[in-house]
Amino acid sequence: MKMGTLVWFLSVISVAIHFFPSSSALTEDGLTLLEIKTTLNDSKNFLNNWFPTDESPCQWTGISCNPEDQRVRTINLPYMQLGGIISPSIGRLSKLQRLALHQNSLHGNIPIEITNCSELRALYLRANYLQGGIPANIGNLSHLTIL
Ligand SMILES: *[C@@H]1O[C@H](CO)[C@@H](O)[C@H](O)[C@H]1NC(C)=O
Ligand SMILES: *[C@@H]1O[C@H](CO)[C@@H](O)[C@H](O)[C@H]1NC(C)=O
Ligand SMILES: *[C@@H]1O[C@H](CO)[C@@H](O)[C@H](O)[C@H]1NC(C)=O
Repeated sequence: MKMGTLVWFLSVISVAIHFFPSSSALTEDGLTLLEIKTTLNDSKNFLNNWFPTDESPCQWTGISCNPEDQRVRTINLPYMQLGGIISPSIGRLSKLQRLALHQNSLHGNIPIEITNCSELRALYLRANYLQGGIPANIGNLSHLTIL
């Protein structure tokens, strides 16, 4: 009886897997990165593998994730001729440890929302056209390297 229930349960699951194959949507961090991309001018299409149809952003150009929870840990996009601004959405990447956007053509202010990235320890923004300096209270000050 119990075995029969188990077999029934497993067949329901396999039917479900069959009819809804890998239909999981992109993670929250992936959606946030796509928002960040909308305010960048990627005229050289370096970010053309940031596909909205992926389940995870962890293989995207410039992105790496924490192995444990697949949250975005680094954004590494120097020397990519990126224009535009850094979106305030950056504050939603709450596990971000490294943001490297040096040697691009970014302008505007560094968004205050970046102070929400409490695990940030490396911030590389030199050689852009950013204004207004680095917000106070940014990240984990004891570990932060700013270049
Ligand atoms: C994006 O950058 C390219 C190359 O610098 C420039 O020609 C283009 O006008 C820019 N587009 C926008 C919307 O700023
Ligand atoms: C700050 O991070 C939390 C999660 O850690 C998130 O819920 C919130 O939306 C973030 N705030 C901003 C302004 O990005
Ligand atoms: C800063 O980082 C250290 C070591 O990773 C951690 O113990 C501490 O809680 C962090 N502080 C904040 C404010 O995130």
